[in-house]
Amino acid sequence: MNNLRQTWQQLQQGMRRDRVFDFIAENRMPFRGQGHMALPGVVDVSHGTLLYLENVSVSFDGFRALNNLTLYIDDGELRCIIGPNGAGKTTMMDVITGKTRPDSGNAFFGQTLDLTRMSETDIANAGIGRKFQKPTVFPRHSAFENLELALQADRRPWHTMRHRLTPTQQLQIEETLHTIGLLAERDRPAALLSHGQKQWLEIGMLLVQNPRLLLVDEPVAGMTHQEMEQTAQLLTHLAGRHSVVVVEHDMDFVRSIARRVTVLHEGSVLAEGTMDEVQNNPRVVEVYLGE
Ligand SMILES: Nc1ncnc2c1ncn2[C@@H]1O[C@H](COP(=O)(O)OP(=O)(O)O)[C@@H](O)[C@H]1O
Ligand SMILES: [Mg+2]
Repeated sequence: MNNLRQTWQQLQQGMRRDRVFDFIAENRMPFRGQGHMALPGVVDVSHGTLLYLENVSVSFDGFRALNNLTLYIDDGELRCIIGPNGAGKTTMMDVITGKTRPDSGNAFFGQTLDLTRMSETDIANAGIGRKFQKPTVFPRHSAFENLELALQADRRPWHTMRHRLTPTQQLQIEETLHTIGLLAERDRPAALLSHGQKQWLEIGMLLVQNPRLLLVDEPVAGMTHQEMEQTAQLLTHLAGRHSVVVVEHDMDFVRSIARRVTVLHEGSVLAEGTMDEVQNNPRVVEVYLGE
């Protein structure tokens, strides 16, 4: 009897997981490589909101890194997140990507995908790409090959068995090289690219996987002024096609790309608005900008 119940529970859990996964896979497979615009129905944004974080709390040994955090990101929006060290910015990204599970609260991707119940892989496959601070490109491979590898990073067996790029994939890589400003560098080994170019290449490696949401942690750290300007252009260009969430400390950079800015402090939202509104908010000045 006990065994039967266990089997039934496993079956139910399996069915639930499969249902989510099938739902994603069925819709993605026939359209792979054609851009997320060709993927209707995968992520339900019928209300215009792509990401829902509601009352999310995360504690580490009793310390609340996120404290009832509530935040919404619109479909196609470019959002900047700022806040002092320890405010919970990275933890927030960890929750969105499934690396950290919240103690309480909701995290939804569109109306239907419950991020707190999905694996990191399923979340990535559903269309959330994350760029970490350090670029992790393959140094000996060319810019083109790096994008090719990222495109084929899909571990589903039917996909890895394919060796050659389809014309669509070829085109997609060329277009991505253009978008990230590396068309002229397509055959250079990544090791020979500048720091900024490596960062763009890594953004490109996310782009070929057609993320609906792109999470970018401190993209301009260590960049030259000119590289920063080009990064600003790139990120603003991506908005609309993708939702982009940028965590950044460089205030000049944030000002140059910001539409809506969220200030995190002690694990929750301290202020949200335009750059001007946020900068003139006395509490923001007190805890962050006044430093
Ligand atoms: N894995 C962890 N274990 C213990 N404490 C952590 C862990 N990750 C983050 N923290 C703590 O949670 C708080 C928020 O960290 P973090 O999200 O990295 O902030 P931010 O990215 O805004 O600087 C910090 O006080 C940090 O020390
Ligand atoms: Mg951080």
